[in-house]
Amino acid sequence: MSFYADPNIKNTERIFPEQGRSEYLRLDMNENPTGLPSDFVDDVKKKITPEFLSTYPEPDDFRKKYAGYIGAKPENIMLGNGTDAILRYLLETFGEQGKDVVTVSPTFEMYRINCLLLGLNHRPVMYEWNETMKRFFVPIEKICDAINENTRVVIVTNPNNPMTDAYEREDFLRIVDRAEAFNAVVICDEAYHYFCESTMRDVALERKNVILTRTFSKLMSIPALRLGVAIGDPEIIKVARQSQLSFDVNAVALLFGEELLGRADIVEGLIESEREGRKYLVEELKEEGYEYIAGEANYVLIKTKKDPKEVERLLREKKILIHTYGSSSVIKDYLRVTTGSKDIMARFLIAFLEADQGTESVDDK
Ligand SMILES: Cc1ncc(COP(=O)(O)O)c(C=O)c1O
Repeated sequence: MSFYADPNIKNTERIFPEQGRSEYLRLDMNENPTGLPSDFVDDVKKKITPEFLSTYPEPDDFRKKYAGYIGAKPENIMLGNGTDAILRYLLETFGEQGKDVVTVSPTFEMYRINCLLLGLNHRPVMYEWNETMKRFFVPIEKICDAINENTRVVIVTNPNNPMTDAYEREDFLRIVDRAEAFNAVVICDEAYHYFCESTMRDVALERKNVILTRTFSKLMSIPALRLGVAIGDPEIIKVARQSQLSFDVNAVALLFGEELLGRADIVEGLIESEREGRKYLVEELKEEGYEYIAGEANYVLIKTKKDPKEVERLLREKKILIHTYGSSSVIKDYLRVTTGSKDIMARFLIAFLEADQGTESVDDK
């Protein structure tokens, strides 16, 4: 059978997320491994009646409440089925086939995939090892130099996944100024916002060419429901919203999102618990003499003694999932572990030390 298919879509190699993860301790995708308090979830569930489910979602009320939550107006807000969907809309709207999308690398993989799917030219600026700073680093000048008349979109991930580093305001503003000079849009992805002091929210509200994205998938702990937010000047948000499906965000996601906005106590508790767990993990790794990269996000990169792929495999046998990188990546010698409560980190640490330092290896089997 022959049929037409968009060649960019047809030829893009996709690896879809792993299934059957529920039987594992999931430290591979930066989800909250503990989840929300179950009494909160039970209370919210009581509001899901047959009538609630038989009505199309009405997102405007949540838009208004979220705007109030961050000190903005509803016109500044766009909602989406996770940041995933919002990124697609933004790249469809502000990208141009054959023109550049500038990001750093390594970073969140879906930027590259969306560029392939949409026929946009992905222009990654690579992290390099900086001997003086003793860390991987991308000079801001290199990002600015990559932005030119061919650039339509620049994506800044604050803090970056997986590198954990956040941007200084003045560096971010240099990128925004440079992009503005070439009429390019800057997307600032703050998926890990709650773990990080630095935010560019006010820049997104002040500048015409900046859109900031946030998600309810990470600290807010509802990735299953898919709820993402974009924040920006009313004019750019209006254009971005043109591309949306009519009922993009489901009503259950809106309900949980709204209830969470009213529960500062839960949000504070989640922040505190992750911070405590990350601090514990980092101190233990230091004690054990490990090199690691830990910044302002709910994940840590650990340089393993064995091949990270082997450690990944041994951890999988112990029913723990973590993330590793390809052989061409600057962080090929590292694994990324999601950080959560101290209990979870203690469980991970025992298994990790056994896997990385134990004598059992894949070859022994
Ligand atoms: C930097 C970054 N942006 C966006 C996302 C996707 O978030 P969502 O669940 O809202 O689609 C992730 C998920 O890992 C991420 O790391």
